[in-house]
Amino acid sequence: METNFRTLGRTGIGVSALGFGCWAIGGEWTDPDGQPLGWGRVDDEESVRAVRRALDLGVTFFDTADTYGAGHSERVLGRALGKRRADVVVATKWGNVFDEETRTLTGGDDSAAYARRALTASLRRLDTDYVDLYQLHLSEADPERALELRDVCEEFVREGLVRAYAWSTDDPARAAVFAEGAHCAAVQHRLNVLQDAPEMLALCEESGLASINRSPLAMGLLTGKRAAGQALDAGDIRSTPPAWLPGFSQGGADPEWLKRVDALREILTSGGRTLAQGALAWIWARSALTVPIPGFRTVAQAEENAGAMDRGPLTADQLTEIDGILSGPSATTPPAVPSV
Ligand SMILES: NC(=O)c1ccc[n+]([C@@H]2O[C@H](COP(=O)([O-])OP(=O)(O)OC[C@H]3O[C@@H](n4cnc5c(N)ncnc54)[C@H](OP(=O)(O)O)[C@@H]3O)[C@@H](O)[C@H]2O)c1
Repeated sequence: METNFRTLGRTGIGVSALGFGCWAIGGEWTDPDGQPLGWGRVDDEESVRAVRRALDLGVTFFDTADTYGAGHSERVLGRALGKRRADVVVATKWGNVFDEETRTLTGGDDSAAYARRALTASLRRLDTDYVDLYQLHLSEADPERALELRDVCEEFVREGLVRAYAWSTDDPARAAVFAEGAHCAAVQHRLNVLQDAPEMLALCEESGLASINRSPLAMGLLTGKRAAGQALDAGDIRSTPPAWLPGFSQGGADPEWLKRVDALREILTSGGRTLAQGALAWIWARSALTVPIPGFRTVAQAEENAGAMDRGPLTADQLTEIDGILSGPSATTPPAVPSV
């Protein structure tokens, strides 16, 4: 790839062009009704090995949230980084309230006082003195409240607790509110070859923000390993997907989505890429500001995903070809979904 590095917005914070998403490695947690919010059981030792392998392969950016596994993801990430903490850029999120004992999400809190409590707890779990990128996790928070939270983030920066901040939201109008802040560096939003986000990318260009891309593999659909009717483990959010989670139903992966993946397979696997690597290559080709953060839970996934950096972005012609396939006569339109 021409360059495997990105700068987070106007901050001068450098990261690898690929980050790693730490939702799955949080393990199991649920909402109060027992709805799974994690990706099922994980092996913490394998998670630690996967993070360390990613570091060895040049990945310097890790995205987690306090709520993933009700604090567990932050702990595992902190342990895995150990003495190498200073060499990496750690992003975490706040806004969701959870019970660490019962591993249950209990609600949300958009108050300034809670932001400070949440940051203190994240620093403890991550075993660090500062967070590089602190992200508001309440994707649909009231923009007026967000203005206050933006000021709180600026305070955190002045105190040296946070280097930069962002909003995790799919709404460009909300992202624009945070973008005005001096140390706002990025927006985290959904982007993958099946779910484009042109307005958000335009905002990133205009405002000088990095575009951090969640669900870059469409929650695993773009890895090619999901077949129609193939059941997912109980405890995996995709086995009983909430209304906001597209691409899956009670019966497993949505056949319409799988058809679109199949239609793109040949282009995405060009140049010796695996399907997952091709999906990441599409994102880099889409905009030079993008930093996809694929989730992972094994060393093998870490190696495959990090390997995408060796092959770089797709070409502009391939992007045009993909647009043609996705908008062609037999194409189905992905359903509109609210942000999570
Ligand atoms: N609101 C928010 O802020 C928000 C929301 C969602 C995600 N995120 C962030 O974005 C990150 C990534 O998004 P995502 O979790 O939605 O999903 P994703 O990156 O689109 O898909 C990740 C999943 O795909 C599978 N996978 C990954 N690499 C693979 C490979 N090479 N081969 C085969 N399977 C592979 C793994 O699941 P299996 O092995 O189980 O199939 C993995 O957990 C999260 O970890 C989190 O940090 C943030």
